[in-house]
Amino acid sequence: MFILRPSELLQKHLVKLRVQGKTIGFVPTMGALHPGHLSLVEYAQKQNDIVVASIFVNPTQFNDLNDFKLYPRSAEQDIYLLEKAGCDILFLPSTKDIYPAGTSQLPHYELDYLETILEGKYRPGHFQGVCQVVHRLMTLVAPENLYLGQKDYQQCLVLKRLLSLTGSPAQIKICPTLRENDGLAMSSRNMRLMPEERNLATGIYKALTFINEQLQPGTLAAIKEDAVRILCKYHLKPDYVEIADADTLQLLSSWDGCKKIVAVIAAFMGQVRLIDNMILPLNFASYAN
Ligand code: PAJ
Repeated sequence: MFILRPSELLQKHLVKLRVQGKTIGFVPTMGALHPGHLSLVEYAQKQNDIVVASIFVNPTQFNDLNDFKLYPRSAEQDIYLLEKAGCDILFLPSTKDIYPAGTSQLPHYELDYLETILEGKYRPGHFQGVCQVVHRLMTLVAPENLYLGQKDYQQCLVLKRLLSLTGSPAQIKICPTLRENDGLAMSSRNMRLMPEERNLATGIYKALTFINEQLQPGTLAAIKEDAVRILCKYHLKPDYVEIADADTLQLLSSWDGCKKIVAVIAAFMGQVRLIDNMILPLNFASYAN
């Protein structure tokens, strides 16, 4: 695996591969890698000649400075895991590579409704930061395919919008959420949970499976309230439990029994904020599309 920085070196290397007609699949990450991240590398390998991964803990997408400081960092282990997974190139940019003109005058992206709800509402400015870093990374890597995890469902929709706003021809491939045996979605943030908190965190998956089991056409208020009760039973403090149109993220108060929908949850376990989702009804879920 080539470990490349600064960005000029990456671009020089990629030009050579392009001349050879190689296709590129790109997996952007913030490191502290787990099998969920590595599954994206695996999907990218199947569909492209070359896989480029990046690791950059992007300061502009953290609305909470403490969260940025506490974000787990494990560069050596990450390099080992990516090498073992057969990743071809790891781009390890510095802040200057990503923000050559600094971070005080970054572009604003017209995300409209998408950044007024759910993560956008609870983490103001977060999706602007995600767009700033991914826009720059996409300019540098210019891949055919961009691999994202369904785990961050709203982020997938935001980045679809980014590619359309910036005229990028890349295809977005959304890959399934990898879970621990008890259903907890794998996340770099899980490392910050104490053992007892780690066990209780599975309440998020319990609430999502409850919604799946109880889902019926008609009003959704009662099912959302019951899901909140499940979270509380597991000592989780919810920011939101919502059910939304899976294509537009329009929040729904009732379901017609036909529409593809997504149940989304964000909740705190102690100091750690966790998110997860489930596309419903379950037979609608299709991945790496
Ligand atoms: P990060 O949280 O490191 O996630 C990198 C990618 O891995 C994202 O596309 C995310 O959805 C995916 N991922 C995380 N957990 C997963 C799981 N359990 N199963 C499958 N995929 C999973 O998301 C970001 O970084 C950043 O916002 C980024 C896009 C890199 C921009 O900074």
